Amino acid sequence: MKAVCKFSPELRGTVKISGSKNASLPILIATLLTDDVCFIENVPRLDDVFAIIELLKKLGKKVLFQKNKVSIKGKIKNTQLDEKLVRKLRASVLVMGPVLARKGYGSFAMPGGCALGERPIDIHLSGFEKMGARYRISKGRVIFTKTKLKPVRIKLKFPSVGATENLIMTASLIPGITVIENSAIEPEVIDLANFLKKMGVKININGKTFTVKGSKKLKGAKYRVIPDRIEAGTFLLATASVSGHVQLKNVLYRHLESVILKLKNSGVKIKTSKDKIHIKRTGKVKPVDIETAPYPGFPTDLQPMWAVYMLQAKGVSKIKENVFPSRFMYVDELKRLGADLSLKGNTLFVKKSTLSGTHLLACDLRAAASMIIAGLISKGTTEVSNLHHLSRGYENFFEKLQKLGANVSIKK
Ligand code: UD1
Repeated sequence: MKAVCKFSPELRGTVKISGSKNASLPILIATLLTDDVCFIENVPRLDDVFAIIELLKKLGKKVLFQKNKVSIKGKIKNTQLDEKLVRKLRASVLVMGPVLARKGYGSFAMPGGCALGERPIDIHLSGFEKMGARYRISKGRVIFTKTKLKPVRIKLKFPSVGATENLIMTASLIPGITVIENSAIEPEVIDLANFLKKMGVKININGKTFTVKGSKKLKGAKYRVIPDRIEAGTFLLATASVSGHVQLKNVLYRHLESVILKLKNSGVKIKTSKDKIHIKRTGKVKPVDIETAPYPGFPTDLQPMWAVYMLQAKGVSKIKENVFPSRFMYVDELKRLGADLSLKGNTLFVKKSTLSGTHLLACDLRAAASMIIAGLISKGTTEVSNLHHLSRGYENFFEKLQKLGANVSIKK
């Protein structure tokens, strides 16, 4: 499958943002903490979500996914996670925490690297170890032997989203008080914490410190996942790049403040209300530098789309990547369109460029989205292959873009 993108003069209309992928994944996994039935709403129908559901079923759960609602119940019957599933979906490392908390043992394939470069799990593992878990690594697997977990105080060396999620899920089933300092406070982590609270866990968040009062048993809960701020940011940057006037519905603008501020500095007009964002770009783009950082900083997931947007700004702008230093795999592909980009260490220098369409190969999920936006602002036709990356993380992406007037279609 390929996306065929043609120059599009403007985007116009309304787009409804789906539920958050990165919040849905840990929340679905957190249902492993109970045998009771859980109902999760606003779950996007995406390959990553389907993969997690497959994984929960392998572990013994009964899962029903209809429209955007998931119901999950039942016991954990298996504690082995195979390599195929773990490699398919990095978020499957989040299963370690809940399985360890419920069973005290388990054997999990290590996730390995990916298109974003090396992806270690040392922060997850050292947290589990502090909590009393004993493990060894053998033949590509982490094997936890029977251990009794205890409440502790942990300080993360970096506010890793996944490690924070894994550790707060584990702490939820450890009676007593666990404190996790220097935690990630991304909206998706807070959403998971809110779901855990509904399951009966007492959680207090003060700055970057989570205080979790766990208990022996948790109950089932009903929960609605937050809107996807990265999907929303992608549509904001698509509109800013192409020009036009778009309203985003079912979005929480507070989760995108860092992006909205940078967009305003670059000359676009943005109005926000509780669950809507209006964006309008008619004029020229000013160069604006960004630097990615853990929340509330500029999200690393929107960095590739920002690079495409800045290709239209007069002058030079800089993008510094502080979260995934090797997240610049897309740069050489965009250069094939004529993009004037140069990389020094973890900083990308972007100059105004006239782009002309060619064939591109998507290398990861967010890079795929950035290449499609680049196709809409390039002269002629741009074809983007390796689209399986895109269906991992965007629900109805092409339908939504087409509804806004983008000249994009799918070729089998
Ligand atoms: C999550 C998001 C991803 C986003 C990222 C940063 C999901 C499913 N994915 O990924 O879209 O780009 O947060 O906002 O929610 N690190 C270590 N050791 C560890 C763990 C992480 O060194 O044990 C490093 C990573 O290599 C990376 C940085 O910490 O350089 C951030 O990673 P992390 O916050 O853990 O990202 P993920 O949870 O994998």
